Amino acid sequence: MNICTRLDEKVKQALVAAGADKDTPALVKPSSRPEFGDYQANGVMGTAKKLKMNPRDLAAKVLDNLDLSEMAEKLEIAGPGFINIHLKNEWLAERLEEMLASDHLAVEKSQHPQTVVIDYSAPNLAKEMHVGHLRSTIIGDAMARLLDFIGHKVIRQNHVGDWGTQFGMLLTYMGELQDRDEELSMQLSDLEKFYQAAKIRFDEDPDFAHRARQNVVKLQSGDPEFLKLWRQFIDISLSHCDAIYETLGVLLKRSDVMPESAYNDDLANVVADLERAAMLTEDQGAKCVFMEEFKTKDGKITPMIVQKSDGGYLYATTDLAALRYRHNKLGMTRGLYFVDARQSLHLKQVFTAAKKAGFVPEETQLEHMAFGTMMGKDGTPFKTRDGGTVKLIDLLNEAQQRAFDLVTQKNPELDEASRRSIAKTVGIGAVKYADLSKNRNSDYIFNWDTMLSFEGNTAPYLQYAYARIQSIFRKAGKIDTNARISLNETQERQLAGKLLQLSETLETVAREGTPNLLCNYLFELAGHFMSFYEACPIMQASDEASKQSRLKLALLTAKTLKTGLGLLGIDVMERM
Ligand code: ARG
Repeated sequence: MNICTRLDEKVKQALVAAGADKDTPALVKPSSRPEFGDYQANGVMGTAKKLKMNPRDLAAKVLDNLDLSEMAEKLEIAGPGFINIHLKNEWLAERLEEMLASDHLAVEKSQHPQTVVIDYSAPNLAKEMHVGHLRSTIIGDAMARLLDFIGHKVIRQNHVGDWGTQFGMLLTYMGELQDRDEELSMQLSDLEKFYQAAKIRFDEDPDFAHRARQNVVKLQSGDPEFLKLWRQFIDISLSHCDAIYETLGVLLKRSDVMPESAYNDDLANVVADLERAAMLTEDQGAKCVFMEEFKTKDGKITPMIVQKSDGGYLYATTDLAALRYRHNKLGMTRGLYFVDARQSLHLKQVFTAAKKAGFVPEETQLEHMAFGTMMGKDGTPFKTRDGGTVKLIDLLNEAQQRAFDLVTQKNPELDEASRRSIAKTVGIGAVKYADLSKNRNSDYIFNWDTMLSFEGNTAPYLQYAYARIQSIFRKAGKIDTNARISLNETQERQLAGKLLQLSETLETVAREGTPNLLCNYLFELAGHFMSFYEACPIMQASDEASKQSRLKLALLTAKTLKTGLGLLGIDVMERM
């Protein structure tokens, strides 16, 4: 059990022994200031209010019932009734030794491993991936890594949009080019241009538009020739995605793609089963699900449409089929959807209906991990200079080029290949970290200068902190693993306390889907390391024992930074 949870349970027991009821929260958290100890329990005040007691009196009673002698050297009551917990140096040092000896930094594996389906990235294949897909891809991938690390079974699902009316237009245009013997692969190398060219044909030529509409029907009824053309298109579009995933270093593989079209054959069953569950209402020819939960202020219910009057199925129908598949075939016990906040109503409706219809059991946790829009510096949605959508590949190339210029400025003497390689790690790391470090629910302002800065809560700062520790090891030579860690200086003590918060931080992030908390943790850790390094000389330590102890603290910091950044999908370098 991590330190915070362990203390929380102990304080809670003491609260109960002092007269509180058994689900009283102890609210143990890392202390806000070093003088308040390592952890503080904030639950006494609320409980005292319930019990109509003086909070300081209750705190005193709690202390009478709290035995932390094994781990703590001092417990004190502060202010209106906080309990400050000061841990023992030797106890902390032992935990650090354990962490250093463990291959996963003594991070607790989950006691209740779940099968977590993570729905992320999911671009629409008719077009090229654009900045709108960045957040889902990056945040979802970090959560997949992290949940796997703490012992859950993670199943990635890339719910790409590969079906629908746009494909009629695209395939018709593809057919025209083929008839003219044009080189298709060239044309499709820029999907965005291809889409625009097809759209122009569609808008200008009524005959083309007519054929495009007929072709949608042909495609959906399984016309072999159209399916062949469609597969060719999808394959090319997916290889564009693969290239982006490769550059970004995200885990998604072709085998994680479970496209909308895969559910096509099940859509009629979904509708039939909703009908059987008496959940369908016909409204102007369309089949809809009306649920009380979605009543607006004026008393009207916003329906979820599952079949249009022309027989066509919708986005919601596919999502219902996907939920059923994820439950029946994948054994999902928790489903995380990394999808734009603007789809919140859609997902709420789908989740609610799936449970009502019994497609997934009530206890399955379904969570919309919503995120806000990516904005430009001016606070309006991020666009190209002429107002178009920014292609993701262009953005990633620009990140690497900007990082290359920076690295060249700092290290002009380094050979070009090394500079390119550092630039890739820094540039891509910066883009990912900038996104991951923000609260995902808010809109987020994309700013090249801040994300590439070597100061502040950025990837380059953390990568640099890591590289700097590596340079210490190059100077120090071999670390004596038999040496013991001892914590004597305040800065050593503070660094130690921070290092030991890794496990509890990961647990919170796993529960809440908030990688920004891991970013904050790593940023604070690097800050504590810098203060430690300034105050506690390593190479010039007064004796060999403290030198070795400090080297071990540095080693553990480096490992924690590398692991933490790794969970965010960000690489480190030995030199920068
Ligand atoms: N393709 C959708 C879009 O681009 C996102 C899909 C999200 N996942 C889902 N199961 N609905 O908006």
